[in-house]
Amino acid sequence: MKKLNFPENFQWSVSTAGHQVEGDNIHSDWWQWEQQPGRIKNGERSGKASYHMERLEEDIELMKQMNVKTYRFSIEWSRIEPEEGRFSDEAISYYLRKIQLLKKSGIRPMVTMHHFVSPQWFSKVGGWRQDNAAEIFFRYAERVEKEFGNEIEYWVTFNEPTVLLNLGYGLGLFPPGETEWNFWAPMVNIMKAHAKTYHHLHKMAKAQGRSVKVGIAHHLRPLLGKGWMEASLVRLPDFIFNWNIPQSLKTGVLHGATWKKILGVRIPIKQKLEIPGLANTQDFVGINYYCREYIALTLKPPFFARKPLPGTVCSDLDWSVDPEGFFVVFKLAHEMFPDIPFFVTENGLADAKDALRPSYIVSHLREVHRAMTDLPHVVEGYCHWSLMDNFEWHDGFGPRFGLIEVDYQNNGERRPRASYNLMKAIYGSNSIEVDEA
Ligand code: BGC
Repeated sequence: MKKLNFPENFQWSVSTAGHQVEGDNIHSDWWQWEQQPGRIKNGERSGKASYHMERLEEDIELMKQMNVKTYRFSIEWSRIEPEEGRFSDEAISYYLRKIQLLKKSGIRPMVTMHHFVSPQWFSKVGGWRQDNAAEIFFRYAERVEKEFGNEIEYWVTFNEPTVLLNLGYGLGLFPPGETEWNFWAPMVNIMKAHAKTYHHLHKMAKAQGRSVKVGIAHHLRPLLGKGWMEASLVRLPDFIFNWNIPQSLKTGVLHGATWKKILGVRIPIKQKLEIPGLANTQDFVGINYYCREYIALTLKPPFFARKPLPGTVCSDLDWSVDPEGFFVVFKLAHEMFPDIPFFVTENGLADAKDALRPSYIVSHLREVHRAMTDLPHVVEGYCHWSLMDNFEWHDGFGPRFGLIEVDYQNNGERRPRASYNLMKAIYGSNSIEVDEA
């Protein structure tokens, strides 16, 4: 066995998202979505989720015991602003308490402002389609900065805009449940909101002599084609899904398509737009990596199917365990952003039995180490997804992503899995043990 050491100030982290763990997120669009039959597997609803609000102290203690240095969590817009223009003191004090408790335990908070979920009042009138969506979001972002800005160094404005767009406006699995793949306007508005927020966070930090790092958590899942035809056809969706938004943070230019009906046939009209203020609005590249995927063409809409990589072991969600793909992602991101540090904002798998997770953790951390030595590229930290089992969106409570098992039948009782202890050892020793080869 060989020991691989990580840099001394490496940020060993875990991540969660508000709606998936907190519980009772009643003013959110997701809460409403869950009430509709057929939206969530087995008709489940987030309800108390993982009881994270009620068990906050306990969860922070578990993180502290695990040697966690940074906790990435999201602030829920619909809690802070349950009605348009009305901000909730109660929600603000909850998050302030959370931040203070974390700091007292020596854990740095990393805050996501938007993790898939919006307030009902916002979504009801058109959500991200509205022309002034960026301004509406910005009012919330300004307030969040005002209340918590002093305490936060790392901000993620948006979690995985591409997942939100593809699942909300293409596959119809997230609200607003559209299936037309017509997400040019929402994409433009989200990126405008990011740019405005980025500059504001910097302006405020500068005025107060603080340092701040702002980024987006990008879901990077390279798409491969099975045969030569699929391989070439998949190139465009691969660019749109994986690289369009990241590259726009460098160039300020977004690519995409709107749709037009000509003689009853929908055809895509190519779009390209430079968003003022968007270029160079990323201080770290947030990378959420799960796996690569094969895309096979099918005869029925949406005319493609997602398949695991041949010959790989799969998680409970049938996603390949694919550490090599992690390095491929690092390489591509390195080519695009040679000078911007990476922060792995999510990496993990659904594995109820915790059978694959221990080796998954080591094999994936080995690739993080390799990115730092072979490329070499600065990686500031690694968040495991997730601290605990949680509400996995349209898949409900079935998939278990947690280092800590949550017993939903017993008020969310916590049971650390073997991987939790492994992480504790890795985070504590700042190193991993790998085979020589
Ligand atoms: C999301 C998480 C989700 C995880 C596993 C990521 O795409 O940011 O919210 O739970 O993947 O599916």
